[in-house]
Amino acid sequence: MVVDDDPVNIQVLVNHFSLRNWQTMTALSGKEAMTIIREDKVDLVLLDVMMPDMSGLQVCQEIRELYTHSELPVILLTAKNTRRDIVIGLQAGANDYLTKPFSKDELFARVHAHIEVAKAAAELCMVKEAVQTGTSFLRHAIKNDVGMIQLFNEKIREYAQAHGIESLIRDTDIIMKKNAHLLGMISRIHDLTADIQLYLTQGDLVQTIRQVVNTVRTQCEKENIRINFHCKSFVFMAYDPVHMEEVLYNLVQNAKEAIEPSKGEITIDVTAEKERVYLKIMDTGSGIPQEHLPFIFEPYYSTKRRESNFGLGLSYCKRVIEKHGGCISVESTARGTKVIVTFFRTGERG
Ligand SMILES: Nc1ncnc2c1ncn2[C@@H]1O[C@H](COP(=O)(O)OP(=O)(O)OP(=O)(O)O)[C@@H](O)[C@H]1O
Ligand SMILES: [Mg+2]
Repeated sequence: MVVDDDPVNIQVLVNHFSLRNWQTMTALSGKEAMTIIREDKVDLVLLDVMMPDMSGLQVCQEIRELYTHSELPVILLTAKNTRRDIVIGLQAGANDYLTKPFSKDELFARVHAHIEVAKAAAELCMVKEAVQTGTSFLRHAIKNDVGMIQLFNEKIREYAQAHGIESLIRDTDIIMKKNAHLLGMISRIHDLTADIQLYLTQGDLVQTIRQVVNTVRTQCEKENIRINFHCKSFVFMAYDPVHMEEVLYNLVQNAKEAIEPSKGEITIDVTAEKERVYLKIMDTGSGIPQEHLPFIFEPYYSTKRRESNFGLGLSYCKRVIEKHGGCISVESTARGTKVIVTFFRTGERG
């Protein structure tokens, strides 16, 4: 859709697009544009910034209340081209910016690129929904069947006990264990892939970390793994304690699994600056080969051969941390791995 208060500008763009067999809608004001956007399916908006009544920037902000950048891309068209104007335009929610006079080829190339990105994002969204519905459905179906198997297994076990058939009792034990594993597995996959809804509370992040450390310390010490925890102060911030606990548990678990079966150390370090909080989890484990690093945050990527590892831990951690507005990175050598989680306290990024 082309939005401009000057009918001549609109006509020029419409002509350009129709030459390439693209369909265009037009609007002569921000208000008219918003009415069309609310009622019709628009793929991309080419928006003039300087318009009377409602400026392009205001239109852009209203569009962002309805659609994300990938659901409805917006390209601003304007004569203003200072760095500040560009930043203001992008902050208003524009995907891109073209200054007048612009070349037709550049305009088409940018429109094409943004539409392709939007298409890919829509496809990804559909796949994600299908996977989530699939796992929810599977979990439900498997839970029912496992319940049934459990019930009949108990009956067989009672019969075996009543008749003293030891080998049958041992078989029912195996069925019981496998059933429990199946249930645990499906619940874990569901929990780690489900949509993350944060319930933010203002609290001390250090307290949550300390709780996790205390929970895992005994088990680690039994396995000759020492846990060091360094933190000098409180870190009050808004976070979801349940998800954050799970993130820490996953990161410590990865560190522990990288050290096993030998001896080693895990060091957790929290540093709070005025605007950023750094949480580092370092281990003296086997490290991650450089060629594996690009894949470790991908769902279902695991180099472990245990039945209980699905390769979902880091992808879950990344999603939770990014939902908190933070970021996660990993550095690794053959002497160990350092995971760095950064939170921004004032909305500042990167
Ligand atoms: N601290 C670490 N040291 C060495 N390798 C690691 C470490 N953390 C992650 N990795 C590597 O990254 C991969 C992905 O980690 P992730 O936590 O996502 O999955 P996982 O631990 O294999 O399985 P899950 O977390 O589902 O139990 C691991 O299989 C391992 O190869
Ligand atoms: Mg893991």
